[in-house]
Amino acid sequence: MADEKPLVVEDKPEARKRGIWGSKAGFVLAAAGSAIGLGNIWRFPTEAANNGGAAFLVIYVACVVFIGLPVMLAELTMGRHTRRNPVGAFKKALPKSYWWLVGALGVTVGFAILSYYSVVAGWTLGYVVKSATHTFTPDADPGQVFDGFVGSWWQTLICLAVFMGLCIAVVIGGVQAGIERWSKILMPTLLVMLVLLIIRSVTLPGSSVGLSFYLEPDFSKLNMKVLVAALGQAFFSMSLGMGAMITYGSYLSKRDNLVTSATWVGMADMSIAFLAGLMVLPALAMAGITPGLEEGGAGLIFAVLPTIFSELPWQPMGGIVFGTAFFLMLMLAALTSAISLLEVVTAWLVDERKWPRKKAVAVVGGVTFLLAVPSALGCGAVGWLSHVCTLQDQQLGFLDLMDKIFGKLALTFGSLLICLVVGWFWGMGKARDEVLSGNPRFNKLARAWSFLLRYLCPVAIAIILVFLIIDPSAIR
Ligand code: PHE
Repeated sequence: MADEKPLVVEDKPEARKRGIWGSKAGFVLAAAGSAIGLGNIWRFPTEAANNGGAAFLVIYVACVVFIGLPVMLAELTMGRHTRRNPVGAFKKALPKSYWWLVGALGVTVGFAILSYYSVVAGWTLGYVVKSATHTFTPDADPGQVFDGFVGSWWQTLICLAVFMGLCIAVVIGGVQAGIERWSKILMPTLLVMLVLLIIRSVTLPGSSVGLSFYLEPDFSKLNMKVLVAALGQAFFSMSLGMGAMITYGSYLSKRDNLVTSATWVGMADMSIAFLAGLMVLPALAMAGITPGLEEGGAGLIFAVLPTIFSELPWQPMGGIVFGTAFFLMLMLAALTSAISLLEVVTAWLVDERKWPRKKAVAVVGGVTFLLAVPSALGCGAVGWLSHVCTLQDQQLGFLDLMDKIFGKLALTFGSLLICLVVGWFWGMGKARDEVLSGNPRFNKLARAWSFLLRYLCPVAIAIILVFLIIDPSAIR
């Protein structure tokens, strides 16, 4: 059958030169590294606690499976097909149109998220030092420790600078030697640490209150706000809506199976978020913070989790060792996510502006640091930056505001645009052909994907966005 199209297309030499993941496992770990981060451990448990616990969990799973995964597949497909950063990808897929602006929005959003994300990641670094130096004794008040820490401008700025430096060091190494190599080591370590901490957390006195809230669904708590929160969290956690997955997809080999890769990444991300809830909610309950209380805020996890460490056996060493290891793990999870954000902006400068990689990484890192300063100082160190506006009686600091605008709203909007572009303008036919390379049996699934991406996802996301325009306070 001479005219049968080969299903596995070889990668072109230019693509190899630009950078390609060394193996499928390498890609899955790097993409899972991007997805799994502060979003899972810092943001997910708080979102679940504020939005009805188990009911949130059920809606979250539905959002990941029916909306997150199709969008992720769309991003990876576009990235591999065009072998470009988000701006270049839209330019190449839809030449002579203005759709590249969607990519430009993505790069901008990536920049903005990286700025405040690095601040929180910097806190994890500070907490590594605090835990190692036994700050969290049984009679220390972790809430006060946290306030003291974020209230000190030099401590937060030093931590931020060190974290940014680490990101720069990894991304300068490039795709295989930098990002892939580190993700392979860091991700498995994270899982082991998490499991050990869950065992302690669920055996804490009083943990059952937190556990039952998390695991027994009460569907009377469901409303539009829960849906808004779950969908926004799914996009953030899966690194969607701003082109991180377009960029990571652009380094994929034509031999790789995009569907199984996306599914692995999505499932790993969801599982870690679920496990993080198991670790955090019992600790919240034990600290006397009733789950469901309208009390979110960036610092919740930092102000509460150290209580677990002082309850560990073999004090004080047990607390010191586990506390240090935990925040180290959190920092590493944040690092593998932050490098994907940094890589998006870097890839844009390298592909489109032809900058050398080193220069691009250094400049982007430096500018991000400056952009991060208001977020860093806006958590207590500088008064007016810590209360920039009030939403539903809640005082928002600069960092919270950035998270709402860029981490929640912009990613939801960006995901809508990606569905529309791939589903309607670039065309499902081309997208399907791209997935077929490396996955000859995709035809069976292609119709379901097409339905989800063209109809279900855009309609569901648009409804959420309209609801948010009518009631902006829903974005908590
Ligand atoms: N997914 C990352 C996390 O959960 C955050 C992130 C968002 C990374 C968007 C890249 C792009 O922490």
